[in-house]
Amino acid sequence: MTRFSGGSMADDVRVSAHRGPTAPETRTSSAIDQVDAFAAHNYHPLEVVVTTAAGAWVTDVTGRKYLDCLAAYSAVNFGHGHPALITAAKAQLDRVTLTSRAFHNDQLGPFVEALATLAGKDMVLPMNTGAEAVESAVKLARAWGYRVKGVAPDRATIIVMDGNFHGRTTTIISFSNDEQARADFGPFTPGFVSVPYGDAAALEAAIDETTVAVLIEPIQGEAGILIPPADYLPAVRDITTRHNVLFIADEIQSGLGRTGATFQCDNVRVVPDLYLLGKALGGGIVPVSAVVGNRDILGVLRPGEHGSTFGGNPLAAAVGRAVVELLATGEMQDRAKTLGARLEAGLRALTGRGVVAVRAAGLWAGVDIDPDLATGREVCERLMARGVLVKDTHGSTIRFAPPIVATAKDLDFAVEQLGIVLSELSMRR
Ligand SMILES: Cc1ncc(COP(=O)(O)O)c(C=O)c1O
Repeated sequence: MTRFSGGSMADDVRVSAHRGPTAPETRTSSAIDQVDAFAAHNYHPLEVVVTTAAGAWVTDVTGRKYLDCLAAYSAVNFGHGHPALITAAKAQLDRVTLTSRAFHNDQLGPFVEALATLAGKDMVLPMNTGAEAVESAVKLARAWGYRVKGVAPDRATIIVMDGNFHGRTTTIISFSNDEQARADFGPFTPGFVSVPYGDAAALEAAIDETTVAVLIEPIQGEAGILIPPADYLPAVRDITTRHNVLFIADEIQSGLGRTGATFQCDNVRVVPDLYLLGKALGGGIVPVSAVVGNRDILGVLRPGEHGSTFGGNPLAAAVGRAVVELLATGEMQDRAKTLGARLEAGLRALTGRGVVAVRAAGLWAGVDIDPDLATGREVCERLMARGVLVKDTHGSTIRFAPPIVATAKDLDFAVEQLGIVLSELSMRR
């Protein structure tokens, strides 16, 4: 395990005042004012302006340090500025960064071979963002349905799960149940059927002769770290195999170490037909995503049918290969498991003291706060004031997904601060 965060900064944060340059509040507010004035308002960020980061810690423009317990929605699984990843990126920056797929580059081959090997599959379709990997899988599944399974032209359907989150494109929001993500963005793409998450019987009942695939998050992250029953994904595997339907696992957030395994599917001993990967695959440096599967599925794509100018670019491939090398040793996965157990125990100890439920898998936890106490947003704001960055989701749930390079002391610090925030909130009742 490479250690580079310089140990825990928890003590540092406890005593830290604003110790940056003069007029720190001015620097913070002018940076936020600029974003408010010139960037579209499609986010509602916490009022912290990060300027540097190392390992599990970020520093704001005033010099104040915070423990990053979001890790860019798991894109920074291996910590900010991981030396092996930065070295790979810097070396490639000096060689060549983009060729397009009109030509070969010498980085793509080693990357796709390493990733296919890590996943135990034949082939990789490289893309950039998570949503592009999902879109690519939708196209692949439909083409497979028509060309291999023999579904009638333009009739293919894909089964998705209630409460899903797979990204923000028009097609993807077409099968979301989140009205905020859909309102005023129609008309929507047809060809999707949604069933309750975790209900294998409902899934099987929804399959008909038009079904080409089932698209599932092995854990629903944005929905609040919802973990289905242990026998659910094995049942999905069994059902999809029996009906000759593809099992597509969106491991964009759950994969690549976060849950204490390379894939959450590994934790329940299931092998899907396609893995969708993104976020951490780019090491928090560049957007890198991929669809990974066997030749009988990925092989349906012919030259000219699908592509991306940046997909498979040499910089992304060099970083992606370094990410795969980190994962190949298994150390990150083991560390996430060990640290995750500690985080979960700490959070569970707050049950009844403002916490009503904790759901955890590896170093990933959804914590439901008593809605009578505060909104998730308010808890996040108070934690920020105490040096911990987390993000709320769905009202009063907050999620913890610190970089896997965080220390045990860092996690204890985060739990301690949550405990203090919850006591403060209880006292005002
Ligand atoms: C499970 C899952 N799929 C897809 C996406 C979309 O990824 P991106 O934001 O890179 O498009 C996300 C993003 O949060 C996700 O959590």
